[in-house]
Amino acid sequence: MSASREHFSSKLGFILAAAGSAVGIGNLVGFPVSATKNGGGAFLVVYALFVIFVCLPVMMAEMAMGRSAQKDPLGAYNKLSGNSSKWRYPGFLAVLTPFMIGVFYMVITVWIFGYLVQAAIGNLDALADPSNFGQFINQTSVFYYMVGVGVLVNLILLGGVKQGIEKAAKLLMPALFVLLVGLVAYVLTLDNAIAGLRYYVVPDFSKVNASVLNGALSQAFFSLSLGMGILMTYASYISKKENIVGSAKMVAVTDSLVAFIAGLMVLPAIFSFNPNTNPAELSDSSVSMIFVYLPKIFLAMQQDIGYVGASAIAVIFFLLVFFAAITSLVSIIEVPTATLIEEKGVSRFKALLLLAGSMGILTILCTMSFGMSEWLSTMFNYGDHDPATKKSLFDFIYDVFYDTILPLNGLMVCLFVMYRWKKAKLTEELSQGAPDYAGSFTEKYVNFSLSTFIPFILALIFINTVANKFFAYNLLGF
Ligand code: PHE
Repeated sequence: MSASREHFSSKLGFILAAAGSAVGIGNLVGFPVSATKNGGGAFLVVYALFVIFVCLPVMMAEMAMGRSAQKDPLGAYNKLSGNSSKWRYPGFLAVLTPFMIGVFYMVITVWIFGYLVQAAIGNLDALADPSNFGQFINQTSVFYYMVGVGVLVNLILLGGVKQGIEKAAKLLMPALFVLLVGLVAYVLTLDNAIAGLRYYVVPDFSKVNASVLNGALSQAFFSLSLGMGILMTYASYISKKENIVGSAKMVAVTDSLVAFIAGLMVLPAIFSFNPNTNPAELSDSSVSMIFVYLPKIFLAMQQDIGYVGASAIAVIFFLLVFFAAITSLVSIIEVPTATLIEEKGVSRFKALLLLAGSMGILTILCTMSFGMSEWLSTMFNYGDHDPATKKSLFDFIYDVFYDTILPLNGLMVCLFVMYRWKKAKLTEELSQGAPDYAGSFTEKYVNFSLSTFIPFILALIFINTVANKFFAYNLLGF
């Protein structure tokens, strides 16, 4: 299989595809809003430190596993562990996780597509009505949008690594950047724009507590697409000539830069709409920011640039988020696709068909779990067991896979690479394409951190989340 394995055509193709995965919905709104609420510049510094000192080593380890094995995550764990039966489970989880997170991400991408279409056909005024979102997600039209997104993502994936994933990233990533910079340039001309920037960049270290630290790390982890088997899969499509250490740094820089620049668009827009905004009152949820709060702001821009101008700004914004979401969706579905192709020997077409069926059904069920189906909307009751806080299927997938299993997968990567595959093998793999790596400070840091405090931190987050979410027990006091 590996002789005929398709590869990215260049290092740039790989970096853009991996950055396309990393830059997602969370970068554009979630990150700037969390930063503003949690200490502005202080949050930015803490986030950057987490990216450099915790996330980058994990990213390099994931990429090294994928490239060394030249296989999907399940295959990589099997091959690199010498077919140990124990290590099949983390391999299995590293495929199940993207499958499930793909479902929850698909649901949100479908809504974004719907809002994009609605803004483009002149319905911004309806979108800006606060009651619109609740109605929109319960209309049958969401299923049409779902077909649209499903077809687009599958067409890209059907093209394979070079003609599909790489081409889409090479087109969408530069387009995303241009749209983003264009929006920032416009938004910065608005009245009171600078007031928002002040909250975003001026540090307030008094806001940084244990819970903010935990949130920042989880966000950085998710934002860099770690723990989902994605980087393992993408790195299995590069050759030994490529420099993983350098590529990982480029991906991390691109992802963080896009997140930072997005703040230069979101905060000024919020503060020009209402200069007295209290950052503490901004919603924590990206979903309510994107679908409820921001459309109001776009509509208000009609005073300056007319309804058509305001709609154009909304279209550009939703297009931007849509591009970011599509490249992330493609990356996440590629993981189970590669696994089916390699482990079950099916064709790419058949693998995609199987996934479209299975993920499609789950996506439909999740979409119905916001009220369309009473049963799906109140299916679970865990944690505090308060009957008033029943959880939907969507909540359940989010809580289990995003919040809980993601750090566990990261922990498994650290333990596997350090204690099963061993440091020497990691160094050997990372040195291919980066001859200076062996013996460098980076090597020492990566080996030390991955074998000591990074797994410790990830284990702590995992245990605390399980206690918190499922047993309503606050282990660490946050
Ligand atoms: N980094 C992505 C984001 O921030 C995470 C992700 C990747 C989510 C792929 C889903 C699919 O949105």
